[in-house]
Amino acid sequence: MSECGVRIRELEVGDYDQVKRMIKRGLSEHIPVAMKAQLQTSAAVPGILLGLSVLVVFITSLDFMSLALLLCTTGFIFYASGLLYLHLYTLPNELEEFNSGWPINRYEKFWVAEAGEGARWQIVGSVGLRRMSDSSEYKLELKRMSVEKNFRRKGIASRLLRTALDYSSENDVKEVVLRLTSVQMPAIKLYSKFGFRTRRVEKQRSMFGMLHLTVLELVVSDLSTRSM
Ligand SMILES: CC(C)(COP(=O)(O)OP(=O)(O)OC[C@H]1O[C@@H](n2cnc3c(N)ncnc32)[C@H](O)[C@@H]1OP(=O)(O)O)[C@@H](O)C(=O)NCCC(=O)NCCS
Repeated sequence: MSECGVRIRELEVGDYDQVKRMIKRGLSEHIPVAMKAQLQTSAAVPGILLGLSVLVVFITSLDFMSLALLLCTTGFIFYASGLLYLHLYTLPNELEEFNSGWPINRYEKFWVAEAGEGARWQIVGSVGLRRMSDSSEYKLELKRMSVEKNFRRKGIASRLLRTALDYSSENDVKEVVLRLTSVQMPAIKLYSKFGFRTRRVEKQRSMFGMLHLTVLELVVSDLSTRSM
């Protein structure tokens, strides 16, 4: 058994549903984090909603109960629209690859991390490498990095990433690319430890224009000289 009762292996047919559920949980964390970051950096959209609500109350009456109610409603609408967006758009879009057949067909390689001992092992992490279609050189995109909450900060993502990068360097891959938002701080720290650098920064609007996201494209090349 490998260190800390964790082992890395390739994805198998029986893992399909478990991996999909785990990735779904990981993706569900992004919208609330992005919403919180939006409020911390610029509260323009919720501020405008709130301002309009307050105006309506003061024009129509000076009832402070109604004002309190409107404040709560504004917060609720902002949060509910995030959840709605997550469930109606982000998740179906992101998990589409799992609906149309076995995901491994779309991936060059896909690994899972299992934790446990003896005969009892459970999947607690995943990562995949997808061939980039617009590229003539052998370049791969790293996707589906996710570790279950209770198993974080135990080095599991690092082991998955090391496995993916070792595979890439052994197979003459020119570079490994990935995209993530600037609010995914744990992931950014993880990737920078492994030599990923920001190549492109894009501004994107999400959640009916309410969220302003910064999407980073990270890249690692020189895989043969990698030290970690
Ligand atoms: C990002 C994620 C995969 C990290 O998994 P993990 O198994 O906890 O990562 P590791 O234990 O291997 O951590 C490696 C390094 O990453 C950084 N890191 C990981 N989690 C961190 C956190 N919460 N805060 C700050 N740094 C963090 C640290 O530098 C850490 O090294 P250290 O523990 O020696 O300080 C995990 O938090 C996750 O699944 N998040 C949700 C999904 C996601 O964001 N996926 C990335 C999509 S691109």
